[in-house]
Amino acid sequence: MKTSKLLALFTVAAAISFNAQAADRVGDFNLIDNTGKAHQLSKYAFNKAVVIVSQQAGCTANQENIARYKQLRTNFDHRGVSFLMINSSVEDERDDIRAEEAVWNYDFPIMDDDGQLVADALGIDKAGQVVVVDPVRMNVLYRGPMPAQWARHELGTVLEAVLADGADSRQMETVNVDFEAAEGCALEFPMRDRYQAEAPDYETEVAPILIERCVGCHVEGGIGPFAMNSHMMIQGWSPMIKEVLMTKRMPPMQVDPTVRTWINAGNMPVEERQILVHWINAGSPRN
Ligand code: HEC
Repeated sequence: MKTSKLLALFTVAAAISFNAQAADRVGDFNLIDNTGKAHQLSKYAFNKAVVIVSQQAGCTANQENIARYKQLRTNFDHRGVSFLMINSSVEDERDDIRAEEAVWNYDFPIMDDDGQLVADALGIDKAGQVVVVDPVRMNVLYRGPMPAQWARHELGTVLEAVLADGADSRQMETVNVDFEAAEGCALEFPMRDRYQAEAPDYETEVAPILIERCVGCHVEGGIGPFAMNSHMMIQGWSPMIKEVLMTKRMPPMQVDPTVRTWINAGNMPVEERQILVHWINAGSPRN
């Protein structure tokens, strides 16, 4: 009896793994939701925390937890916490997201992470996962399930900690609570898996995209502030290049293709954005 209780305690302790020091960082990003509205993480900096729920059409954990999500929001949105959902499913198109919303009435903006790059950045690996982010310091503070009673759970502890007077998330750690994906909540990451096994090839995959989408302006004497004229140059600018791709600042003038099309739009296909970001994540290798 005693041993089994102790064992249970150890299991709980093992499930809550703390980072050695600082919290995981996330870069800024910009995603469009089911209604066509853009959400940029840094623009939530007027709030102390953003709660992001990973969503997928048909995920039973999402469907069963709707009341809990709304209750959490009722308790925290007037205290400086914003609430968003993110759909990072390769299965779901924007129409699937809208259809799921029409049936279940989540009543949260559902961001369409069509390239799965934000899931990667936030450390999301399944639907049903809840992530708490500090939008000022860009720290991930909690990653885990939606508990039945958040007030008695790490999720509540983390939210209270970041809302406390004088709280500084730089002194906090990422609290990870492991849990199994419920039925219909597993997420596949085919592109990430592929490019983690082998980084995109600089000459045949990366450079052609830059030439087509960027070099027209980013050339010696061009209007872009630096010339993409060597691997060294591109590697050096990689952190900035990743940021402008994640926030969709570059190429300039992007519009949501599911809302309207525009002849001058600078949109690039999601596959190209994935190639560039996964290449940068791999350290921008020469080959
Ligand atoms: C239509 C011209 C044009 C195209 C195409 C273009 N850029 Fe730019 N880029 C600019 C200009 C102008 C600036 C400086 C003003 C700004 O930051 O908006 C800039 C700035 C940047 C910066 C620096 C951002 C900063 O905050 O200093 C990066 C990085 C960048 N571009 C990357 C890219 C990448 C990657 C592509 C291709 C996917 C691209 N650009 C395509 C014109 C362009």
